[in-house]
Amino acid sequence: MIALIKQVSNFVGEEVTVRGWLYNFRCSGKIAFLELRDGSGFLQAVASKEEVGEEMFDTIGKLTQESSIIVTGTIVAHPKQEGVFEMQVSNIKVVQIAQEYPITKKEHGPDFLLNNRHLWLRSKKQWAIQRVRDVVIMAMYEYYHSLEYIKIDTPIITPNACEDATELFEIEYFDEGKAFLSQSGQLYLEAAVMSVGRAFDFGPTFRAEKSKTRRHLTEFWMLDAEAAYVEHEENMKIQENLICFVVKRCLEHCATELAILERDLEPLKKIQAPFIRLTYTEAIDKLQQLGSDIRFGDDLGNDDEGLLTQNEEVPVFIHKWPKKIKPFYMKTDPENPDLVLNNDLIGIEGAGEIIGGSQREDDYDILKARIQEMGFVGEEYEWYLDLRKYGSVPHSGYGVGLERVVRWICGVEHIRETIPYPRMISRLKP
Ligand code: 4AD
Ligand code: MG
Repeated sequence: MIALIKQVSNFVGEEVTVRGWLYNFRCSGKIAFLELRDGSGFLQAVASKEEVGEEMFDTIGKLTQESSIIVTGTIVAHPKQEGVFEMQVSNIKVVQIAQEYPITKKEHGPDFLLNNRHLWLRSKKQWAIQRVRDVVIMAMYEYYHSLEYIKIDTPIITPNACEDATELFEIEYFDEGKAFLSQSGQLYLEAAVMSVGRAFDFGPTFRAEKSKTRRHLTEFWMLDAEAAYVEHEENMKIQENLICFVVKRCLEHCATELAILERDLEPLKKIQAPFIRLTYTEAIDKLQQLGSDIRFGDDLGNDDEGLLTQNEEVPVFIHKWPKKIKPFYMKTDPENPDLVLNNDLIGIEGAGEIIGGSQREDDYDILKARIQEMGFVGEEYEWYLDLRKYGSVPHSGYGVGLERVVRWICGVEHIRETIPYPRMISRLKP
């Protein structure tokens, strides 16, 4: 019977067939230890010369790293490690003997690995990260559907900017002139929730950002979520519950993966609502007390985010930022016209900003003035302004940076490992 490595614990004492690749190999005269991988997991298979016979044992000896093989054998519990299973090999069918594999057990530099990303993805840690990524995505879908959000797809090719217009990727769009790759589906999602009430999108977003950091990609996946009749405070609650839910799901489903990544689980286990809430003004005061030379009106840098979260066990909301440094669509704080009802959510353990969101300006005149102030002209935003003409309601939303979340949960240094094919300023291939 064909089995997935992930499921072999169900077949102790039985003979099963695993179809995969040889990840690792060592041989001590009469016994060969093969580490198999089949996509679902890793399994040690032990072949003894006595058991498989001389001819098969010779064949095994010729296997190279990453050779594709179909292995049949009996599943047994590991003699020493509880919960670990092995296979006692009875037969191996060779599908292909791999040529000399470029990625070996020795240390490779990041450029070499990134140039070989199409192969590097097979390495254990990369495998684990992609599986955690999948669990994070599924958890987000589950969370939103449980709250009656539906998924609405927003376009990637757009005529206007959503965020900072200096970070747009431009494309020539037939006779229509310039178009841009989406920075966020938010504006379109706002229109959609006036139809369906609550919605999320999830897709690639693009920022022609010249930031060369461990947290920036030029193409990254964002989940925008938006809800009608939700205001600033509730918006933050929805975000904190999302993060709690996602972390819980990862702890439930990714034990193997997180162990491979040597992730300390204790900080993840402590994630629970409520998160810390600091107004931007409080955050600046706190930073100044901690010795930072930041001034009111400055954006928070990496170091500032680190200082604000260094002793915290849960993420920190920084909310109500100065209007001047935030996008046009954020709602003015009724208590202070210089501030907006927005929030960034800063993760612990150096995760940095994982979510950015706000209540949206729902007043036609204020929004129109804001759009003009920002120097956006023309009719590109007319449709967006329409939403404030026909049954405008308070509404809020936010965008979750998938790779930022995965980076934090996996505890990996660099965001480039969290996406299958990273796109950065100086990285376009493969
Ligand atoms: O804070 P941002 O720019 O917010 C928006 O785009 C809103 N329109 C979203 C919304 O309200 N629906 O981006 C949202 C999140 C950030 O908090 C961060 O996690 C991630 O997207 N992000 C990036 N991730 C990787 N590389 C980059 N260059 C990123 N820029 C933002
Ligand atoms: Mg932001």
